[in-house]
Amino acid sequence: MNYINDDLLQYPDWRGHAFLREEVARFLTHYCKAPEQLDPENVVVLNSCASVFLTLTMVLCDPGDAFLIPTPFSSSFSLTSYLYSKVELIHVHLQSEITEANTQPFQLTVDKLEKAMVEAKFKKQKVRGLVLINSNNPLEDIYSRDSLKEYLEFARRHDLHVIIDEICMLSVFDESIPFNSVLSMESLPDPNRTHVIWDTSKGFGISGFHFGTLYTHNKEVASTVGAFGFLHSISGITQHKLCRLLQDREWIDNVYLPTNCSRMKEAHKYITNRLKTMNIPFLNCGSGLYIWINLKEHLDPCTFEEEQQLYCRFLDHKLLLAPGKAYKCKEPGWFRITFADKPQRLKVGEWC
Ligand SMILES: Cc1ncc(COP(=O)(O)O)c(C=O)c1O
Repeated sequence: MNYINDDLLQYPDWRGHAFLREEVARFLTHYCKAPEQLDPENVVVLNSCASVFLTLTMVLCDPGDAFLIPTPFSSSFSLTSYLYSKVELIHVHLQSEITEANTQPFQLTVDKLEKAMVEAKFKKQKVRGLVLINSNNPLEDIYSRDSLKEYLEFARRHDLHVIIDEICMLSVFDESIPFNSVLSMESLPDPNRTHVIWDTSKGFGISGFHFGTLYTHNKEVASTVGAFGFLHSISGITQHKLCRLLQDREWIDNVYLPTNCSRMKEAHKYITNRLKTMNIPFLNCGSGLYIWINLKEHLDPCTFEEEQQLYCRFLDHKLLLAPGKAYKCKEPGWFRITFADKPQRLKVGEWC
């Protein structure tokens, strides 16, 4: 990993060094279960998923255009997309209440997407695309293959691009839940408008590497996003280290993934058991790093002001529970717990 040669010390191909793009293509082919070998020419490597997302919005949109995004969602994108490319995010708000149309809490349905399109047209907003985060942060639910197809079909009907963030692909610790990558589909409804983002921040817990990658069948999009490597590339030395990491399949499959999975399971069980004992409702998903909990009962009145107060009270006790408002959740009272931590730290959190 600590190897350095002259090539690594020069400006690289802005799309990423060929050796890393080839390794990413092999890695994604294997872990996404792609029906055919993915093409390294369709891979772009930049310095984070956020950079890939922002450059995609810059490339696909004109200033003032918009993307639909199921909400709540991790909001670093929303702050920056407007600043970076003047692209707006239109929130498709999901509700916790179970109804005939909403058979699970915070369920994304095509009806909700269609309604958001109608409202956007009414407001004369030009919708260019749809952002999907699978699994979603903070909800951590994983889209079924059928739902995924429905969302992609919806996008095709409206000529929308789909940016799908699969950053949590390797963080599914419940083996009974299959992760369906769009890259595993035999045929995509609109391959030229489907763009996948992935990185090692969550699955390998190394956000400090600052690596993000795009896979798109659209060669024009790949080369234009690649040109932004001039601003957003990673150093050759880091690219070499990443390549060595992704190559080490024996360690990933036999050591890293099983250990990570069993630690995540244990930590998740520990926290969810405590939540059950305390009668705190939560969404029970078997993936990701977070648990979405409902503390409505502890807000009086149930408002965002009270939610903020509770958040501050937690902070006073050195406990960081992210409030739902930070994820643009429409209902006050929801909080995100990061459970993926060492057992000792989880216990300390509980004493707080
Ligand atoms: C779903 C999701 N995508 C992307 C990111 C950002 O990843 P990166 O650190 O590569 O910018 C995050 C960070 O929290 C995230 O939760």
